[in-house]
Amino acid sequence: MKNISRIFLAALLCFAILPVQAQKFEGLAMTPPMGWNSWNKFGCDVNEQKIREVADAIVASGLKDLGYEYVVIDDCWHGERDSLGFITANAEHFPSGIKALADYIHSKGLKFGIYSCAGNKTCGGKPASRGHEYQDALTYAKWGVDYLKYDWCDTEGLNAVGAYTTMRDALYAAGRPVVFSLCEWGNNKPWLWAKEVGHLWRTTGDVYNCFDCVKNWGTWNSWGVMQILDMQDGLREYAGPGHWNDPDMMEVGNGMPINEERAHFTMWCMLAAPLIAGNDVRNMTIETFSVLSNKEVIDIDQDSLGIQGFKYASKDSVETWLKPLKNDQWVVCFLNRSTSTKNIEMDWKTFSVTDSLSNRILDTTGKQIYKISNLWLKKNTGDTRKVLKSTIPGHDVLCLKLSK
Ligand code: GLA
Repeated sequence: MKNISRIFLAALLCFAILPVQAQKFEGLAMTPPMGWNSWNKFGCDVNEQKIREVADAIVASGLKDLGYEYVVIDDCWHGERDSLGFITANAEHFPSGIKALADYIHSKGLKFGIYSCAGNKTCGGKPASRGHEYQDALTYAKWGVDYLKYDWCDTEGLNAVGAYTTMRDALYAAGRPVVFSLCEWGNNKPWLWAKEVGHLWRTTGDVYNCFDCVKNWGTWNSWGVMQILDMQDGLREYAGPGHWNDPDMMEVGNGMPINEERAHFTMWCMLAAPLIAGNDVRNMTIETFSVLSNKEVIDIDQDSLGIQGFKYASKDSVETWLKPLKNDQWVVCFLNRSTSTKNIEMDWKTFSVTDSLSNRILDTTGKQIYKISNLWLKKNTGDTRKVLKSTIPGHDVLCLKLSK
């Protein structure tokens, strides 16, 4: 007995003197996070009333029930640091304080996200977290923050792995589970090291609200949907449940025509990208809502295998993208990158592909017949015995799900 209590005491002592194991919160974001973020539509023009109304609209429109759960305030919610160095909210725009806003969002059954930056100042010039990481993480836990987007402005001399790991450890020490979203624009190849640090990492610079263009801001560029899509090349092996490539938030509903919105949304789902809406969900058109709310297409993104899709072929401006899903299902999407209508023809009898990354095979050459459903027309369109012939308008997609 004496020996047992000695062993017990020794074990207790060891436990007490060892530091808490630092890690990210496991088990979060097992499918790509879904939600809404203020930046793409509102920039720095954020206030508590607007964010509450957005939360209301996410519930009332039905987007919440489709999985959009995180309401994230991006840059510019900040006031100054107080005399002890704790961050405060901008009192004019958030007079009730962030805790009250988080409580409101939670009361709607949604989750609450916030933004900071690894540097001294955020990209919008507000006080950022450098040197205040543990203090900020404690504040976020006190407020009820569930998601932190952590940016990379004003970080001269900082090591990215170190800076993001420090914030990860601070969040973990604060004790409230937080989805940690790294936003260093792919500068330091986060796909190579961030799996243990965060739940998603931006792979590129900022998205711009156009389908196929580059916006030059002088010292930096932001990128159209097609440009960002091309930058995902070679990254699929790094994504999976709990750790996702993030090609940036969506521009669906910010002015692109419906065909481009459809193509943008579909390709983000093929990439197993986080689906963070960036439009004014209080005032969206029926078309925009029909895109953001297409359950069958959301299901591609949210598939539990979490395998990022890939470009299989490209011919005459039409790309063929494939994504394996659970239950031996596959998605086959044709993306027309040109502005003119294209005809496509596909004889399934000659189609066999092995995805060496996931070790999955789609083979329609033999006896196995797949049923085909068109995910935007929302109807079954026969099976793989028949040659597929279709036309795809410019900047649009044809998206098919194949099931045995
Ligand atoms: C950076 C990020 C954007 C946004 C702004 C806010 O540019 O990449 O997504 O958060 O900062 O200032």
